[in-house]
Amino acid sequence: MLLDWKNDQETRQWSGNVNEVAMDGHRAWLTGVVTDAKGKILRIAEIDGQPVGLVRTANRPNGDIEVHYTVAPDQRNRGIGSAMVTQFVTEFQISHDKIVLVIKEGNVRSQAIAARLGLSRVHDAGIIPAEMGGDGTTTMWEWKNVA
Ligand SMILES: CC(C)(COP(=O)(O)OP(=O)(O)OC[C@H]1O[C@@H](n2cnc3c(N)ncnc32)[C@H](O)[C@@H]1OP(=O)(O)O)[C@@H](O)C(=O)NCCC(=O)NCCS
Repeated sequence: MLLDWKNDQETRQWSGNVNEVAMDGHRAWLTGVVTDAKGKILRIAEIDGQPVGLVRTANRPNGDIEVHYTVAPDQRNRGIGSAMVTQFVTEFQISHDKIVLVIKEGNVRSQAIAARLGLSRVHDAGIIPAEMGGDGTTTMWEWKNVA
């Protein structure tokens, strides 16, 4: 299921790496996340027992915490993404000063989620390289609390 969400066309479009992921690579990645000694968090959001989305963290060396999220392809644009990310950040008491979101230019729903968390687009995280499927122009932006 998580691999299907990852390889969904829209998920790939808005990911840093747009290439399709194979099952072996996915398994290795997931094992790394759940066994991570630094305490990465990964949670599946459910509605009435049905999985509808995923939120996870990745720790940066400077203490900042990247938050990543995906809503199941058939559940998007119904308010789930906004609600689940807000709930995740609240439940795990992740300080807004530590949160970093890395969002591709044009991903308006993800930008709205960042804005709802009080974050602002702070700096260009770089052009996506060709080997990750970049077209030489699309940029990732980092969103942080600058208040
Ligand atoms: C991005 C994603 C997680 C958003 O989740 P979602 O459930 O589809 O989005 P929501 O319905 O919660 O909408 C999120 C926000 O975008 C706003 N929004 C929706 N359509 C919009 C539009 N066309 N323009 C501007 N804002 C829009 C919503 O109003 C909401 O903001 P609010 O909570 O302040 O009202 C989901 O679409 C997804 O998984 N996309 C593919 C993977 C992806 O992009 N992941 C994030 C990578 S950074």
